[in-house]
Amino acid sequence: MQEKDKTRRKVLIGLTSAVGLSGIPFAATPFIAAWNPSAKAKAAGAAVKLDVSKMQFGQQIQVAWRKQPVFIVRHTKESLASLDLSVPKLADPNSDLIEEPYKGLNPSRSKNPEYSVFSGVCTHLGCAPKYFPEVEPKPWDATWNGGFFCPCHGSMFDIVGRVFKGVPASTNLLVPPHMFDGSILTIGEDREL
Ligand code: FES
Repeated sequence: MQEKDKTRRKVLIGLTSAVGLSGIPFAATPFIAAWNPSAKAKAAGAAVKLDVSKMQFGQQIQVAWRKQPVFIVRHTKESLASLDLSVPKLADPNSDLIEEPYKGLNPSRSKNPEYSVFSGVCTHLGCAPKYFPEVEPKPWDATWNGGFFCPCHGSMFDIVGRVFKGVPASTNLLVPPHMFDGSILTIGEDREL
């Protein structure tokens, strides 16, 4: 087995066997119980916090914020280096068509380039895209470079949530306000420390 394949396999094993944080497994995507605010605060859209330091490289998790899933991906150096390969396939590589809170800050679209933080709601009709980090041919894309595939109607997004051209979803997955204090990620709040 080639070295690259081994690395990808390890990522897959990590995804299916480890939660990484104290959360509840949710299909292939661990759904993390963040440091829960009260039910009342949650209903009001309170920020959620979690420690992302225990995430494996290449792993994706999700948390609920305002009753909606938010995906968090911890990137490998390799996957970040290959982001440019996706650009010719993307409909809006620079997020010009949406409100992008951290536009231009880094290629990961977040406050910390090692992580991406974006909505887990497909911008077509609201299904949950699934994470396929492997770089290998897929039934939906023979030159798949890793990313998200929506099983409902076939929309594709790269590993930082940018939508492909020619798919039903018309815009990139939305980035919520967030901030990092060391390894503590807060979703739903962004202020200077
Ligand atoms: S809801 Fe995702 S492609 Fe239609």
